[in-house]
Amino acid sequence: MARSRRKPSSKARRASAKPAVWGAWWAWAALGVIAAAVIVGIVAGGGSVDGSGGEAAGTTHEHEPGAVEAGRQLYEATCAACHGADLNGTDVGPPFLSPIYAPNHHADEAFQRAVLAGVQPHHWDFGPMAPVAGLSRDDVENIVAYVRTQQEAAGIFRDPSHP
Ligand code: HEC
Repeated sequence: MARSRRKPSSKARRASAKPAVWGAWWAWAALGVIAAAVIVGIVAGGGSVDGSGGEAAGTTHEHEPGAVEAGRQLYEATCAACHGADLNGTDVGPPFLSPIYAPNHHADEAFQRAVLAGVQPHHWDFGPMAPVAGLSRDDVENIVAYVRTQQEAAGIFRDPSHP
């Protein structure tokens, strides 16, 4: 009695186990396809929204709107007198809207160094730049975010004459 009851029930278990396994297989496959589609969607969408992916080599900053706005204010207060309110330079400082200052030639770190230690003239005839006191690394990062967005708006992503 118990034997004959066990047999069909174990058969039934085996029979129901098969579809369950297949169901799981298809579920995982479907999940994989959905996940891949989502990732592709994010990458494609992110690329088209940003539009600058990969081109701004050497720029580590994310260009968040808050950072750019903070950077604009700091730039105007501490850099614009020489580098120009429109970033096109003045009689006493060079323009950042020159490909020379694109990220592949003057990476973000060059801005940190310039502020911290000043600059010995080597590209122009303006003379040296003195260090700028009172700015933190984060401040300069924000200034760079502002400068990079202005460069990109002007179509400057890299210096073609520089490796
Ligand atoms: C008093 C004028 C003056 C001010 C203010 C000034 N700069 Fe400069 N800056 C210069 C001059 C002059 C150069 C040298 C250009 C050259 O290479 O001949 C220069 C060069 C630079 C360079 C290029 C560095 C390199 O490696 O070639 C960077 C980056 C820079 N400045 C960033 C800044 C930032 C950021 C600020 C504001 C926080 C600022 N400067 C404020 C005058 C100024």
